[in-house]
Formats: sequence, structure tokens, C-alpha cells
Amino acid sequence: MKINIVKNNVFLINASNENFEIHPLWLRERAKTEKLVDKHNDQRLYDPSQLDENLKIKKASLENGHLDIEFTDGIKFKYEVNNLLYEIDKKEPIENIVFWNSEISKKPTTIYQENIFETKTMYDSLQNFYKYGFVIFKNVPLEDNFVIKFANSIGTIRPTNFGESFSVKSVPEPNDLAYTSIALTPHTDNPYRKPIPCIQLLHCLENEVKGGLSTLVDGFAVAEYLRKNHKDLFKILTETKVRFRFIDKTIILENWGELIELNENNTVKQVRYSTRLDYVPALEKIKLEKFYKARKLIANLYASKNFEIRFKLEKGDLLMMDNHRLLHGRTAYDPSEGKRYLKGCYIDHDSTEGKLRYLERKFELKWKK
Ligand SMILES: [Fe+2]
Repeated sequence: MKINIVKNNVFLINASNENFEIHPLWLRERAKTEKLVDKHNDQRLYDPSQLDENLKIKKASLENGHLDIEFTDGIKFKYEVNNLLYEIDKKEPIENIVFWNSEISKKPTTIYQENIFETKTMYDSLQNFYKYGFVIFKNVPLEDNFVIKFANSIGTIRPTNFGESFSVKSVPEPNDLAYTSIALTPHTDNPYRKPIPCIQLLHCLENEVKGGLSTLVDGFAVAEYLRKNHKDLFKILTETKVRFRFIDKTIILENWGELIELNENNTVKQVRYSTRLDYVPALEKIKLEKFYKARKLIANLYASKNFEIRFKLEKGDLLMMDNHRLLHGRTAYDPSEGKRYLKGCYIDHDSTEGKLRYLERKFELKWKK
């Protein structure tokens, strides 16, 4: 894609040569002189809806990757063509998703270092997070609340009714099965919340037991497998909204959603799965028959050795995982063997995306991909 000027009008030329003229107002509202935008925050100092709708381009020239324009209202501005094309292409700083299964050769891993949050290593780790849906940070300091510091250094922690953070260890009378020593089958966390927490951070502070292995499954890879091999069952899982519910002594939380939610362009947006908390509505028997068949199949796929990876979180490991994409679980363990203590919290996607864009700008990485 490139930009050309024909008789003072700016044209966009795409690969199939279907040229179209870029509206002068579209360009005018992207002009950034000191009078037009605040130099400290890049925000407009005027309302672009009030610009003259008959505004035109008076003069235009292209030189060394810059588009120089003078508008009929007297505003002159030099645009970086790359910036315009980046926006026109609707590019994102995030690299393409890589679907994975149990044959994934190497888990995305980063060695923690002091001040990592301001480094290119952090940028690469966040790219890995978006590619694979998870990253493991090794050698993270063993302070009890370090996971909170970690979360707040990427973005802002997302508190819930479990508090700012939660302690995953076996306790008497737990309000969630996570706080026991039994096996947890693959699930996504908190599908009953509005909105559902995006990212879970789990920091391992003690792990002396033989069991208690962590499990992860790429829910997007499973969804794509279903789409390819079981179209009908895939369809019913993308069309049936299920109620998820959490109940304890002080709160009842509910939200509805599909086990596989699609984007407008049919790619997978989010998966939800929690056998402890799901309540499908009373649909026609024939529909429910299909739904139950599909749910059984997806449960078996999530639990299958083809998709699941298993590993032991070591003391000092911090697992960061996308709760809208990955399922997680753990094998059972015997609490009499020793301590197992993980501290967890949630953050949202705007934290990681915001940090990624910030680091991209800081290290001038926008054009290097
Ligand atoms: Fe969980």
C-alpha cells in the first residue's frame, strides 16, 4: 500500500490498484501543529466535527517519506507517510497468535531481572504473551506480595471479591475448590464476573509437594481443531450462551457467555470453561442433545494429552496467562508432603497492551517488524 498525489488530491494505492482518494478532512483532523494539539498529551484542542465540511487541499507534495499538505483553511502540516499507512492498515503492535498443543517445544520463558518492566526484554515477553497466551518469569523475588508489585508495574491490578490478590493453598472450609488439594480440571477463571478478568498472574512461593503440577491448554487451538473437524458441534458451542454462577455467604455473581465466543470476522475471541459453575439454559431437547455432545467433546479435548502441557511451577516462577484464551488446572497433591503456596492476582488486557505500545514507542520498534 502506498500514497500518491494526483492533482493536489491524496490517493491511497493498494496492492490490487484499487485507488481511492483520502478525504481531506481525514487528513486535516490528523494534523498536529502546536495550535491544534496539546504538546504534552497529543490531544486535540479543537472539535474536529466543527471543521468546514468543504475543506480542501490547496497544495500537496511527497518527499522522503513525508506528505506535506496545505489546507484551504491555512493549516500546513508534514505527515509521516508510514504513520498514515500504519493507521490505514489497522495494524496492531501485537505479533500474530501461534496456536500450540502438547508438542510445543519450548515454553515461553523470561529470566526476571531488576527493573525488567522498562526493558526490551519486557517488550519481548509481552509479545510472547500475546503469541502463546502465557509466559513464565523465572527467579522472581520471593516476597509475599511481590505479585502485586509485578502486576502494578505492568498496569493496574484488578481486585475482586477475593481481594486484591488471592492465596492458592489448601485451607479448611474453602469458598472455592482452588483452595483445596484436589485436582482441578482445565478451566478458565471467573466466567461469572462482568467483565471476566483478562490475565491471571500466579507467583509460586513454595512448592515442596510431588504432585500439584500446573496444567495449561491453548483454548484457541482446541477451538480451531473443533472448527476444522466437528463443524456442527463447534457451531453450537459458539451459539449457546451459558450462565456461570458463583455463590458464597456474601455475594452471588452471574454472567452469561458462549463456551467459544467469536469475533465479527469469525476468529475466536474468548473461551469460557468451568465445569464447577456452568448452567446451560433449558433449550429444546434436540438442541441440548447437541450441546451436551459438544461439551463432552470439548471437555475431552481440553483434558487430552494432545493439547495439555504439564509442568511443575518452581519456587520463584511467576506464570502470566491469558484467561480469555488459556485453560489452566493442576493435578492433586498431598498437603502432608510439604507446603504448596501460590499467590495470584488479575490484570486486564489494556494493561499489557498499553505497556506493549509504550515500550514499542520507547524503543522505536514500530517500523522494525
Ligand atoms: Fe483457576
